[in-house]
Amino acid sequence: MNPLKHVAIIMDGNGRWGLKYKKSRNEGHRAGLNTVEKIIKQSIKSNIKFLTLYAFSTENWKRPKSEVSFLFKLLENFLQNKIDDLHNQNIKLKIIGIKNFSKKINRLLNYSEKKTFRNNGLQVNLALNYGSKSEIISAFKSIYKKNEKISEKTISSHLQTKNIPDPDILIRTGNTKRLSNFLLWQVAYTEIFFEKKLWPSFSKADYNKIINKYKKIKRNYGNI
Ligand code: IPE
Ligand code: IPE
Ligand code: MG
Repeated sequence: MNPLKHVAIIMDGNGRWGLKYKKSRNEGHRAGLNTVEKIIKQSIKSNIKFLTLYAFSTENWKRPKSEVSFLFKLLENFLQNKIDDLHNQNIKLKIIGIKNFSKKINRLLNYSEKKTFRNNGLQVNLALNYGSKSEIISAFKSIYKKNEKISEKTISSHLQTKNIPDPDILIRTGNTKRLSNFLLWQVAYTEIFFEKKLWPSFSKADYNKIINKYKKIKRNYGNI
């Protein structure tokens, strides 16, 4: 049985779910947040150490302003209402991505990270304004600045995921088979699961099914 430390998820399909069931993309985002809470709880039960959630990509700024501001309002309310609860569950919150949001959001993100910094339960990495290519460029720039040698080790240690093992599992919901600029370096040997269901419909049972499937896979890493 494969050990499982790190699950990464591209939470896709909120908009389509919202249009289908509530006639509004934004209602899909709201529903998607319930799935986030469910999957966090289940990750704790499954003894997973790291859960990385793709919430907003560097490309998602192309969306209509009204959708983008709804998403950040949702995030703001979520953190304001739930950070104590997350903290009580011994969860450590880490933001990956470029934190250049409004002052209010930046402050809230910093506060949430600081508050949960010493927790040693599940670490939730929230990918916000995250893009893998921009992350890799920053890593190279910083290696160059420090005059360090380019190696697998130095590159990994300059990424925002330094000190986090590469994902064992990557799940993308929403019936689309692409990576959309998510953790391109880190998923070199990750087991990838493309799930047809839209994120708000993704259930605990769906999650457990993937975990159980993963545990039985023969991971070769090039060996036989
Ligand atoms: C993913 O759901 C969530 C974010 C990108 C914020 P989408 O909003 O991409 O939903 P679809 O893919 O349009 O259905
Ligand atoms: C990926 O979903 C980003 C997040 C889930 C946050 P998108 O819906 O933005 O991806 P594309 O544009 O369909 O590739
Ligand atoms: Mg999408």
